Amino acid sequence: MSDGAARPFPHRHLLGIEPLSREDILFLLDLADGYVELNRRPEKKLGLLRGLTQINLFFESSTRTRTSFELAGKRLGADVVNMSVSTSAIKKGETLLDTAMTLNAMHPDVLVVRHADSGAVALLARHVACAVINGGDGRHEHPTQALLDALTIRRRKGRIEGLIVAICGDIVHSRVARSNILLLTRLGARVRLVGPPTLVPPALAAYGVEVHHDMRRGLRDADIVMMLRLQTERMRGSFVPSTREYFRRYGLTWEKLEVARPDVLVMHPGPMNRGVEIDGVVADDIHRSAILDQVEMGVAVRMACLDALTRRLREAA
Ligand code: CP
Repeated sequence: MSDGAARPFPHRHLLGIEPLSREDILFLLDLADGYVELNRRPEKKLGLLRGLTQINLFFESSTRTRTSFELAGKRLGADVVNMSVSTSAIKKGETLLDTAMTLNAMHPDVLVVRHADSGAVALLARHVACAVINGGDGRHEHPTQALLDALTIRRRKGRIEGLIVAICGDIVHSRVARSNILLLTRLGARVRLVGPPTLVPPALAAYGVEVHHDMRRGLRDADIVMMLRLQTERMRGSFVPSTREYFRRYGLTWEKLEVARPDVLVMHPGPMNRGVEIDGVVADDIHRSAILDQVEMGVAVRMACLDALTRRLREAA
């Protein structure tokens, strides 16, 4: 296992990719590499976080992020509590900050928070004494998703620098896209955003990426094609004529992939909508699709983040 022992992680929270340096990102990816190996062993538990308490507070639904944070905490030996928002006092009108301060009074060491509003997790972090990890806030950031995507790419391709990564679909509503743009450009990838102008406004080129509205142009010579679902829960009004028409123009099929590199890797953060942004036969191809690798890397990356953010606490104990 890589221990990264020589380098303390210089951040109290993980609220986004934005504040992370290239070195911070590489540190977390190297640490996560070690956890991938641990997770493939029959005995997966370490006592690193023994005595520490992690609370997962998800105001939006989640399968992958919540489950992998729970597994990550438990594999590192923490006491993990999943707070169910639907049966909590939030349903009786308690505010986000009152909930945060209530949980803070129970002395957790890490809070993992997902919220529908951009900036809500950062606001909460200002009112608690523990480390806060952003599990996705509105359309702002989803930092652990971008880290697990980078780990998947690095392990499958051996590098990130110089790769052409096409991120396709509903970019404008996507926190996954934003975190990936920040991370991948910081590590030297060439990022293209591909989709209709309603979902990929030309102004996004200001992030230092190429913008394409034509799928064939966007996918030409791509090393990585990352598909994103239509985030209908964040849409006000109509952004595509119909899902059938959207699939015809922007859904990923073998035919559209023909212009990408022969060894192109297909990714999707999930949840997938088969027949809308991706053809099921492409998603299920074990040679081209890295979608289940992404899920595996998710546990390792979240273990790395928990390890890094609790180092100061553990050293002080
Ligand atoms: N990719 C992702 O965030 O999935 P969940 O919504 O299932 O956590």
